[in-house]
Amino acid sequence: MEKIRRLNLVNSVSGFKSANLIGTGDNFGNLNLAIFSSVIHLGSNPPLLGFIIRPTTVKRHTYDNIKNTRYYTINHIHEEIVEQAHQTSAKYPSGISEFEATGLNSESWMGYPAPFLKESFIKIGMKYEEEYEIKANGTRLIVGRIIELRFPEHILQKNGTLLLSKTGTVAISGLNSYYRTNRLIQLKYARP
Ligand SMILES: Cc1cc2nc3c(=O)[nH]c(=O)nc-3n(C[C@H](O)[C@H](O)[C@H](O)COP(=O)(O)O)c2cc1C
Repeated sequence: MEKIRRLNLVNSVSGFKSANLIGTGDNFGNLNLAIFSSVIHLGSNPPLLGFIIRPTTVKRHTYDNIKNTRYYTINHIHEEIVEQAHQTSAKYPSGISEFEATGLNSESWMGYPAPFLKESFIKIGMKYEEEYEIKANGTRLIVGRIIELRFPEHILQKNGTLLLSKTGTVAISGLNSYYRTNRLIQLKYARP
């Protein structure tokens, strides 16, 4: 298949993906923000999240910053910031911060060593744990531990689940389609 059609087909066939902005900083105070649709749950105790980073054959600021500082933040994308969030995927040179380029604002929080996204409603402070190279294509699974969690109290349900539709958190299909979310049903723990 032609390159772009193939990319769009394969990127959408796995189903809806999470929509997050990963915030990092280098050792000189330069801040970076980039959109990622590959953030996944790895386990809740210890609380681990993973994400996939493309091959580091070209410069990847998110990866370099995480390796240098060991800290990063994951910030949910909601309906109001979709366009700016998408724009962070543009290849800005290292001197240009996506925060400034897109008009999104960084927020530092109790000395946490990576920038949070002010506009986001659900913000996660992460610490790098380990990484695995996927030999088949040179991508890497970055494994991190949740250190801090920040979200509005009213979206926390009694059973601990966050009701993400209440904050307008979006979902991603492919590399350029964003979906509004709406809970269909909540079911009980399934037993045989
Ligand atoms: C919808 C969308 C999802 C993306 N998901 C990922 C991803 O999961 N992993 C990745 O490495 N790049 C992903 N990208 C590409 C990065 O956002 C892009 O390479 C960005 O320039 C990386 O910035 P950095 O060099 O500052 O880290 C995605 C782009 C878009 C538009």
